[in-house]
Amino acid sequence: MSASTTATLLIRNANVLLPDGSFQKTDVFVRNGLIEQIGSKLDQKADTVIEADHLTLLPGVIDPQVHFREPGLEHKEDLTTASRACARGGVTSFLEMPNTKPLTINQAALDDKLARAAQKSYVNFGFFIGATAENLPDLQTATPTPGIKIFMGSMHGDLLVDQEGALDRIFATGTRLIAVHAEDQARIAQRRKEFVGIADPAIHSVIQDNQAALNATTLALKLSKKYQRRLHILHLSTAEEAELLRQDKPAWVTAEVTPQHLLLNTGFYEKLGSLIQMNPPIRGAHDNEVLWQALQDGVIDFIATDHAPHTLAEKGRANVTDQSEEDASVATVFLEPAKVPSGMPGVETSLPLMLTQAMQGRCTVAQVSNWMSTAVAKAYGIVGKGAIAPGYDADLVLVDLETYHPVLREELQTKCGWSPFEGWNLTGWPAVTIVGGQVVYERGQFNEQVRGKALSFSASNAL
Ligand code: DOR
Repeated sequence: MSASTTATLLIRNANVLLPDGSFQKTDVFVRNGLIEQIGSKLDQKADTVIEADHLTLLPGVIDPQVHFREPGLEHKEDLTTASRACARGGVTSFLEMPNTKPLTINQAALDDKLARAAQKSYVNFGFFIGATAENLPDLQTATPTPGIKIFMGSMHGDLLVDQEGALDRIFATGTRLIAVHAEDQARIAQRRKEFVGIADPAIHSVIQDNQAALNATTLALKLSKKYQRRLHILHLSTAEEAELLRQDKPAWVTAEVTPQHLLLNTGFYEKLGSLIQMNPPIRGAHDNEVLWQALQDGVIDFIATDHAPHTLAEKGRANVTDQSEEDASVATVFLEPAKVPSGMPGVETSLPLMLTQAMQGRCTVAQVSNWMSTAVAKAYGIVGKGAIAPGYDADLVLVDLETYHPVLREELQTKCGWSPFEGWNLTGWPAVTIVGGQVVYERGQFNEQVRGKALSFSASNAL
């Protein structure tokens, strides 16, 4: 692909998703990074013209929960490889979590990440500020940030805030959005002792059970209601939490679900073993069904991947070349879950995974786009994103809904180099991804010159 940047861009004859959820075969003209005009047979001259017959134009995906490992854990991923994976997956903006090294718990660490991303990231970026039991002042002043991340469980070291008194102080102070990883650390610690020494990856979902998630979500909800504090529940994973929110969800509370909690369940451990070990864990088939229904009904507001790459060696799977063809029980040395890092990559596959669900009738393409872009922009107050309309930023993805193509290890951009979805035959792959009016990715090629920008968040993150 040409490495040049461009001031004007014309996308011709795409099937365009409009803000009211309808589709129209039409043209879109972009100038200086903004959508200027939408209409049939526009006679604008443009630096770059994309003929988009047979392609569908959607607002670029905003992935609101990723772990990109820079600084400090670059052997797993870095901002270059992660943002290339984003571009290939149609993700034009991401919100990244604070469990890097050093932890993102003050302005200096936030500034460092922003500076690195400005240099390296192919797509737009925002970074959470992480809560400790001691950094209350930083949580109020750090900027720009989508909000405060609290690990109520599943995290060791300073980022763990699991005592109700410390949590209460954070909820009581300030107004900005609080996003929680809701698992009950005390319950997990107790159950870990009961199941110690079992080298079966599936035991992870037994130890960190549905009750552990429900306990923490119940506590977060209680504190949020006590102070009417804007709360976002990250990667909701259980039927019980979905039912809790269905009964009792204040207007200032939002929740997200991951594609893997919708599409994978404990039956997949047999084949994929530790690769699908994550926190909160993969649940049962019943949970899949209840989470889908909650998403359809608006109890769950949007989708995040929780992209959390670890190397195959760390996962105890260095000898497995391609799990789509391999019998994992033969090729894998099973490690006790406590010895394996939790998490799996996701930014490269989330949009085609969900669009494939849409094409197979589980939901609509407009719903997928709402869950993966529009609703995220609204919930986080991300200025100028999430719709194809004049005046919005030209962060766009052209997807091909007519062709199926499998997830192939050799095509992955993430540094960890594997996906739990290898071999899944998907449609809706991005053909072209556009960031700020620049083509950053086109059919396997990257424009090395394109860089994303720091996202802006409206002051209150109000809904
Ligand atoms: O599975 C997970 N992995 N869950 C988290 O909350 C953290 C993440 C990571 O950073 O590896």
